[in-house]
Amino acid sequence: MITVIGSINMDLVIDTTIFPKQGETVLGNRFETVPGGKGANQAVAAARLGGDIHMLGVVGEDGFGQELTKNLVAEGIDTQFVSTTSQAATGIANILLYENDNRIIVVPGANGLVTPTEIDGAKEVIGKSDMVIMQLEIPADTVHYTLNLCKQLGVPVLLNPAPSENFDASWMDLISYITPNETECADIFSGDLESTLEQHPNKVIVTLGSKGARYFDGKEHIFVEGFKTQAVDTTGAGDTFNGALAYALTTGQSLKEAVRFANIAASLSVEKFGAQGGMPTLQMVESRLGGQ
Ligand code: RIB
Repeated sequence: MITVIGSINMDLVIDTTIFPKQGETVLGNRFETVPGGKGANQAVAAARLGGDIHMLGVVGEDGFGQELTKNLVAEGIDTQFVSTTSQAATGIANILLYENDNRIIVVPGANGLVTPTEIDGAKEVIGKSDMVIMQLEIPADTVHYTLNLCKQLGVPVLLNPAPSENFDASWMDLISYITPNETECADIFSGDLESTLEQHPNKVIVTLGSKGARYFDGKEHIFVEGFKTQAVDTTGAGDTFNGALAYALTTGQSLKEAVRFANIAASLSVEKFGAQGGMPTLQMVESRLGGQ
């Protein structure tokens, strides 16, 4: 069982071929609202693969909140610890899809109300979890509180340090796996990439987009190549990687196998529109792994 603690957003996605200059109005191609939020995305990624997933988060008392909670239920995720607040609106992400890449602005809203009280309420389920996954779209104090609780309970934590501005280097001893991309890695660690990896063997796994991921296993640098594919929408690829990595690690795969599995899952996720649209089932990952 995996508990995911994090953000639940509605993604407001604009697909455009023209990027507006300051003060300019342009016509976009398409607009859609689709479920997102790094927390919810990682929960859905692990659930689609067959994981037994509990989600902890907060949504507003509004239509988006209801829709997003229903979506999690439809994905087979336990939402007992998804609470509703009248104090803030459901989190949203404004996503611009432009030239095969995205630019995202998140307004956290209700995600900012995930507090240690919510974490304490879920202590029993957290204690029974094989792993807890977190990201940084909820308050940093809550992440810190949860890291300490998980340490006490002996539950490993996979932290996806995004957005990296909320990361605190003093947390490193409390984390089992941390998965920055190259930019986030440079933001949160001083020193070059090689020495960062060497200082944190089997713990810092740096994602390299479609190129794959790398880490240091204590003896040598391990580079696990990504699977090249035709990307339609890269939103949520990192989340798919994290959900799949946690699923693979908690089902007995070695770190190297798990990174390979997560790379394949991420490559499948970018082939469809929306953060969760392309997240694969276990069968889809296994068939691509088999064909490699
Ligand atoms: O990682 C992608 C996600 O980041 C989007 O779904 C958006 O909601 C933001 O949280």
